[in-house]
Amino acid sequence: MLAPMTDQTALADLEREIAVPGGGPDGLRLIAAPFVPEVRLHLAEDAILWWARMEAALGRSLPPPYWASVWAGGQALARHLLDRPELVAGRRVLDLATGSGLVAIAAALAGADAVTANDIDPYALAAVTVNARANGVTLAVSGDDLLDGEADADLVLAGDVLYDAGLAARMLPFLRRAAARGVAVLVGDPDRGHLAGEGLETVASYPVPTTEPSVDSPVRRVQVLRPG
Ligand SMILES: C[S@@+](CC[C@H](N)C(=O)[O-])C[C@H]1O[C@@H](n2cnc3c(N)ncnc32)[C@H](O)[C@@H]1O
Repeated sequence: MLAPMTDQTALADLEREIAVPGGGPDGLRLIAAPFVPEVRLHLAEDAILWWARMEAALGRSLPPPYWASVWAGGQALARHLLDRPELVAGRRVLDLATGSGLVAIAAALAGADAVTANDIDPYALAAVTVNARANGVTLAVSGDDLLDGEADADLVLAGDVLYDAGLAARMLPFLRRAAARGVAVLVGDPDRGHLAGEGLETVASYPVPTTEPSVDSPVRRVQVLRPG
């Protein structure tokens, strides 16, 4: 069971890690996202090793550190926003399930009026905080599970959030409700198998370099989609 922790605990843990960067694959390094080099992120060369080392050092369980890797869906969506800043300029943006904050940071760099980065993992919100600092942008963070409510934004972004059937079953209705209320919605998805029959419209497609261990090819085709 995960021990309860405050966002301040997670932030202090990550700030300590960053102050004394590890040289090995179980440490964090500030690097440019491969497909979005405008954005630098604190990432682990091997997130599983980082996770194991941190759990051993802290003596408690931690959530899986999704924030310590770049995801193909998030990279495609961030690239799309930076190449088309008119999609975000002057808008209030919500980045759902933000992980490292890559998409939220790209939205801020592209000229969004205000950006909220949302994730239920306190370590993701800590990572967003240190990554926003590293890129010189200001973001609001939210740790609430928003999926049973309504989006309070002009534009909702969702990068690589459909990796699990249960999450997709909650995420897709949330995105559809937002779109039905006139909120713009963009999803970055490398076809993780939970979109069949959902009727989303493809607006762009990118060949994204990936370091994910389960993928054979070094490049993964990623769609940017919106509710049709
Ligand atoms: C595969 S990562 C994608 C991160 C980021 N969007 C990107 O593309 O780089 C998925 C993220 O979803 C978050 N997550 C899972 N369930 C969530 C929920 N109900 N609300 C908000 N975030 C959630 C996880 O904590 C994780 O950070």
